[in-house]
Amino acid sequence: MSSKIKIRIEKATKVFNTFQREDPAKNPRQKRVKKLKRSHIFAVKDVDLIVHQGEVVLVIGPSGSGKSTLLRCVNRMEDLTSGSIWIDDICVTESKADIRKVREEVGMVFQSFNLFPHLNAFNNIALAPKVIKKMGKEAAFNKANGLLRRVGLVDKAESYPEQLSGGQQQRVAIARALAMDPHIMLFDEPTSALDPEMIKEVLDVMLSLARDGMTMLVVSHEMGFARAAAHRVVFMDKGEVVEEGAPEKIFDDPDKERTKRFLKHIL
Ligand SMILES: Nc1ncnc2c1ncn2[C@@H]1O[C@H](COP(=O)(O)OP(=O)(O)OP(=O)(O)O)[C@@H](O)[C@H]1O
Ligand SMILES: [Mg+2]
Repeated sequence: MSSKIKIRIEKATKVFNTFQREDPAKNPRQKRVKKLKRSHIFAVKDVDLIVHQGEVVLVIGPSGSGKSTLLRCVNRMEDLTSGSIWIDDICVTESKADIRKVREEVGMVFQSFNLFPHLNAFNNIALAPKVIKKMGKEAAFNKANGLLRRVGLVDKAESYPEQLSGGQQQRVAIARALAMDPHIMLFDEPTSALDPEMIKEVLDVMLSLARDGMTMLVVSHEMGFARAAAHRVVFMDKGEVVEEGAPEKIFDDPDKERTKRFLKHIL
């Protein structure tokens, strides 16, 4: 791991405005709910986080604690309400930031694999290099083949997503993200939709990426992966970072009561 900072998140806050129906139980005499009550949620609140080059940072926390929102703000799929996020020397959160460059630099893999259903595995991977990187046919062919090999799916090049298992689809999704040669990979619960026997094949690919020095920000509750690959674990609750530290520290001897309570559920 180098001392170079790849991701710098400063005082990141994301507020969602929502409209809620007034609870009819509160006012039983009122026949119809007339007004929608405006409210807001601090999905992410004052989060500071630094990820160094080659570092694997794991984000854990209960449902609704803001993990996905934080990741989505890093590649500007979501705009921060206040605060700032830097990828290398690009301020992602500035309105005039070159989002295309950010998306080339930062690959993202989701829980639901989001592959293009009408393209086979090979073309799912080759599409972005061809269209966005303007790579020639042969170079894109070599690129996609190399990545299929890397995720152990050379024999599935011609298969369409619906013909692949969940674990295989997720490995194609990882290969597709890698096809842009990102410097940073974001993973949002990449194995939580998978059957147990498929989890390992996806984690093995992630582990090999980590070992090759990829900078990774990962939302996952896979303890095996956490202990094998994570340099640091960040525990979030209610949009805030409650505690962060080395995996041994957070999992075996956390300082905060809230962290202890949460870990009881997942360990
Ligand atoms: N587009 C949206 N509009 C309104 N509220 C949202 C939106 N996206 C997320 N939220 C709210 O923001 C909070 C954080 O959500 P987020 O999806 O980031 O949590 P999470 O930690 O990823 O949860 P999970 O473990 O269930 O995936 C939640 O209260 C959620 O309801
Ligand atoms: Mg989430």
